[in-house]
Amino acid sequence: MPQCRICKSSYEPFISFGQMPIANGFIRPEEFSKEYFFELATGFCSKCNMVQLIDQPNRDMMFHENYAFFSSTSAYMQQHFKEFAELIMNEIGQKANPFVMEIGSNDGIMLQNFAKAKIRHLGIEPSANVAKIAFDNGVNTISEFFDENLARKIMAEYGQADAITAANVMCHIPTIHSVVEGFRILLKPNGIIMFEDPYLGDIVENTLYDQIYDEHVFLFSVASIGYLFGEHGLEIVDVMPQITHGGSMRYVIAHKGAGKISQRVIEQREKEKRLGLHLPETYVQFRKNIENSRDRLVELLTSIKKQGKRVVGYAATSKSTTINNYCGITAELVEYISDTTPIKHGKFSPGTHIPVKPYKDFCDNYPDYALLYAYNHAREIMAKEQKFMAAGGKWITYVPKVGVLG
Ligand code: TYD
Repeated sequence: MPQCRICKSSYEPFISFGQMPIANGFIRPEEFSKEYFFELATGFCSKCNMVQLIDQPNRDMMFHENYAFFSSTSAYMQQHFKEFAELIMNEIGQKANPFVMEIGSNDGIMLQNFAKAKIRHLGIEPSANVAKIAFDNGVNTISEFFDENLARKIMAEYGQADAITAANVMCHIPTIHSVVEGFRILLKPNGIIMFEDPYLGDIVENTLYDQIYDEHVFLFSVASIGYLFGEHGLEIVDVMPQITHGGSMRYVIAHKGAGKISQRVIEQREKEKRLGLHLPETYVQFRKNIENSRDRLVELLTSIKKQGKRVVGYAATSKSTTINNYCGITAELVEYISDTTPIKHGKFSPGTHIPVKPYKDFCDNYPDYALLYAYNHAREIMAKEQKFMAAGGKWITYVPKVGVLG
């Protein structure tokens, strides 16, 4: 039986999605024969409540100089991170010469707000290509993996931080104890940590199983985060639900005893109990819901195909890799995937090898249906695709339920 990455207890997998490629591993035909696959399986630890991947590929296979994810591709996310930065600025505004640190700072989408305000900051981003974009835009960035050792080096050079932040990063890191220990070392006695990640409660409630892929080694809840940070003398003082990624949670964390614990933390813990996130049987039901969602999506796509209609995928997201491979969706069912990221164009989706084409191809020749892989950006996308819908275009969605919109 696998051993929990957080508390070292033994636990059992509750689902296997079978063989999966690297979610962001958009690939050229000449590389098909050496494409890497691993078994994507997930388990729940009933001692510390952490939901986690049984195996995760080596980090250098996922985060490297060709990493294909750029945070700034969504206008909504730009606004989201501006507001996140403003919240932190409010927290540290009164402090003398404040210092803010972000791990997994990507292309600088968040820290650019601090750079503009001339606030001391440091971004840590292991994928060299995205780190360079941030650096070239005036965001102080180093390209490394954050851990306890790097924390000591940063402290020697910059001193302790008033705020440490991360977004959609903490859940990527299997050696998270070393990261949290690094936070403890780097955080001023009255400093705050604020980070957010896809939230287990939303994932289970809405069957967002595509949030399970190689990069997401953990699916966090208030209970599991409370346990993890508690091991390092830190505690959750506030929680703020977010709509990003189909449902995320922002955790506000301080040294134990340094801040007042908000009522929201207590209420969210109670909500998790009501959802049964601490019970193994919840994950048995989750697996059944996933299987059901897969069967219905395959049925729907197959029946549309039989009617001779065209389906194009909308946005070559990382999470679509789980959908495509688990459901067996190939170019037979989805003609191509439209995406706005140039680095993905001319490549093929990981595993099932659906071509990825520029967004212009979609606009030039609308399909009958668009399979909405980026359902988390639905509002932004629907607003900009009025012409597609006016031309009779319909959306296929699978979150929270499989169906057709429009
Ligand atoms: P996101 O949901 O952030 O992806 P992930 O599952 O990887 O976290 O979506 C980012 C991808 O979606 C990126 O490849 C760009 C693409 N995209 C479009 O093609 N059009 C759009 O309108 C939006 C918002 C995203």
